[in-house]
Amino acid sequence: MSDSFATARQRITAAYDPRLLDVAGRKTIELVVEHLTRIQAGNGKVLNWNPPAPNVAAAEEFLRGGDQAGASGPPDLVTAQERFARLASSILERGQNLHHPHYIGHQVPASIPLAGLFDAVASITNQVMAIYEMGPWATAVETALVQRLGMQVGLRAGEFAGHVTHGGSLANLTALLTARNVVLGDSWDAGVRREGPPPVLVVHAEAHYCLARSAGILGLGTRQVIKAELDDRRRIDPQRLDAMLSDLKHKGHPIVAVAACACATPIGAFDPLDDVADVCQRHGVWLHVDAAHGGAAAFSDTHRGLLAGLERADSFIIDAHKMMFVPALCAFVFYRNRAHRYEAFQQDAPYLFDPSTPDLADFDLGLRTVECTKRAAAYGLWGVWSIFGTQLFADLVDLTFGLGRRFHEMLVAAPDFEPLHEPQCNIVVFRHVPAGLREAPPEELGRFQLMLRRRLIESGRFYIVPTAKDGVAALRVTIINPLTTEADLAELLVAIREAGATELSNAR
Ligand SMILES: Cc1ncc(COP(=O)(O)O)c(C=O)c1O
Repeated sequence: MSDSFATARQRITAAYDPRLLDVAGRKTIELVVEHLTRIQAGNGKVLNWNPPAPNVAAAEEFLRGGDQAGASGPPDLVTAQERFARLASSILERGQNLHHPHYIGHQVPASIPLAGLFDAVASITNQVMAIYEMGPWATAVETALVQRLGMQVGLRAGEFAGHVTHGGSLANLTALLTARNVVLGDSWDAGVRREGPPPVLVVHAEAHYCLARSAGILGLGTRQVIKAELDDRRRIDPQRLDAMLSDLKHKGHPIVAVAACACATPIGAFDPLDDVADVCQRHGVWLHVDAAHGGAAAFSDTHRGLLAGLERADSFIIDAHKMMFVPALCAFVFYRNRAHRYEAFQQDAPYLFDPSTPDLADFDLGLRTVECTKRAAAYGLWGVWSIFGTQLFADLVDLTFGLGRRFHEMLVAAPDFEPLHEPQCNIVVFRHVPAGLREAPPEELGRFQLMLRRRLIESGRFYIVPTAKDGVAALRVTIINPLTTEADLAELLVAIREAGATELSNAR
């Protein structure tokens, strides 16, 4: 017993040895700096494509290696460093390279590298939150960011509240849970079943799927999600929203919220928030805005107008891990009226919350979040903001939104490309229509776009994503990497043309 205890202690001590952190940390910096220098310059592949099966097998191989090595006792420092380097290299070599200027895909940014270092300090020392005393500095950092970001959007100091949560989906869910509890008074305790017409959630017709999921999770039911009609630029049409709310009220449906977008995922359409807020105010309906992607426009003098009216929403969310360029996940939930900050959850946890210090309770952020233990998710944003100031966020928005417009101009000028909308931000949707396919039926044209994309991403030359317009597949880019240039976008058109020509000649 004591022998095995001593051996276990020896292995544990080796795992915690700070010298191991020293050598592995130096190796990490060496590897990541080399990697980013290469990738940011556009060298190497964007996506390191491998089908799932060999990837899983390779990951398992590392685990087997660890089991075998572990059985023969703790590694010495040199061996541990070598193994660490092989593992860390596999992460860099087998992953998605968001920092490559040809990553123009999903709304996940080339995060500012220093942000990751702040996260690393917090992760290595396992900084967590729930109650103030478990994460006093993390809570202070989060609270300061909530104040500054809320005021940047136009909320009034002292009147609003907010917190950080693990992602935009959870942020939307939390805000809509609050709306449900406020609108359907006793639903937290009694549930949402009731006599009469069921409560409904009105959402932008192309809102992110997490809003419909929220309706399912909140017990409203996805059938009670009513799609607000859109105008020809795919933004909520305030007049038709007005008529819809009148009709729903006339039929006796409680309206949990109207969920608008700034912007909606498919083509980056920003709803006319001031007009939507007028309609909601007239009907006394809770307005929620999903500003996961577009909220950062508040930093830009050029693009702030897209958010006019956001400050009138009852609740809204902003993902810092989208257009504020920090690593996932760091999402903000805001309530215009701070009285709503405790409406989402009503739990009693005497082992956590100490009633003898009621003035500290406002900083026990776990009272407001789905999470109990919560990662200290805001250090990256706080660190970047504290070093570079808000100008950097303005620059990121200006550059990427500006490139969105420029790319649209390039598509308009190219006879073999069809832009499918005029972009309001950095999301652009289009199709490649070479001369040979101009008369092709829509399904064939759609299949062609999907094939092009596959070729492009598997080659590692560019990463872009698929979407659909009017039921026909199309190509979608989010120019979210500020290292991407106009020359890269011109090269994308060339790469698509080349992939298209190969595809067509293979089909002959
Ligand atoms: C508009 C919008 N809302 C919410 C989400 C979900 O955010 P997350 O991926 O952080 O859960 C996304 C994701 O792309 C989005 O585009």
